[in-house]
Amino acid sequence: DTNAACNLVAAIIANAIKEKPDLVLGLATGRTMEQLYARLAEMHRNDGLDFSRCRTFNLDEYIGLPVEHPGSYRYYMNHHLFNNINIDPANTFLPDGMAADIKAGCAAYEQKIAECGGIDLQLLGIGADGHIGFNEPLSSLCSRTRDKTLDESTIKVNSTLFDNPDEMPRSAITMGVGTILDARSVVLLATGKSKAEIIAKAVEGPVTSMVTASALQFHQKCRIVVDEDAAA
Ligand code: GLP
Repeated sequence: DTNAACNLVAAIIANAIKEKPDLVLGLATGRTMEQLYARLAEMHRNDGLDFSRCRTFNLDEYIGLPVEHPGSYRYYMNHHLFNNINIDPANTFLPDGMAADIKAGCAAYEQKIAECGGIDLQLLGIGADGHIGFNEPLSSLCSRTRDKTLDESTIKVNSTLFDNPDEMPRSAITMGVGTILDARSVVLLATGKSKAEIIAKAVEGPVTSMVTASALQFHQKCRIVVDEDAAA
């Protein structure tokens, strides 16, 4: 069930941190991750899971939302995870959706990941259209961090998280599919019936830029964790 799936991913992350306390951890947002982040915060509180030396890089951020906007991914991460664990805020990185020069900001983000030695473990969710990060259909499978116009279907699904759906930006900065494939290991978490069809395509379908998650079939160390509904 959903609980078991989230606990399994939390255990994978916790073990990785215990093995390498200065883990470089790639993080994701979305409804699916809320329960996982609650579990990680609980493991910090009750079992002393120590994030003090971790560095984190989020997959993506909306363009044009200030960090204090409740719809921004920085706000989401502070609220659901960073404020509830002992991570140094200076070690938490998200793309800068307010940068005056978006292109330069994207290059700087890639540079920062490289400076930290690359991502050890990348956590992923999956969008209804098969996106990982915000790599919408027809994203190049070797793309790097860049700005991306969001798909109509993504705007429909994600805008329900905004008090006023019209406030949802139409573009975002996202790690590329190539950036994600460079991570030394990957864990994708998907739960619920609404993900069953796209999980089947990503895992068993042909590799195609129409479903960017299908590129994970090329990854040497990728785990897909699903509950029964998403596995259906
Ligand atoms: C957003 C994020 C993705 C995430 C997806 C799934 O679009 N950019 O990284 O995988 O949401 O969200 P949910 O868990 O709400 O289905």
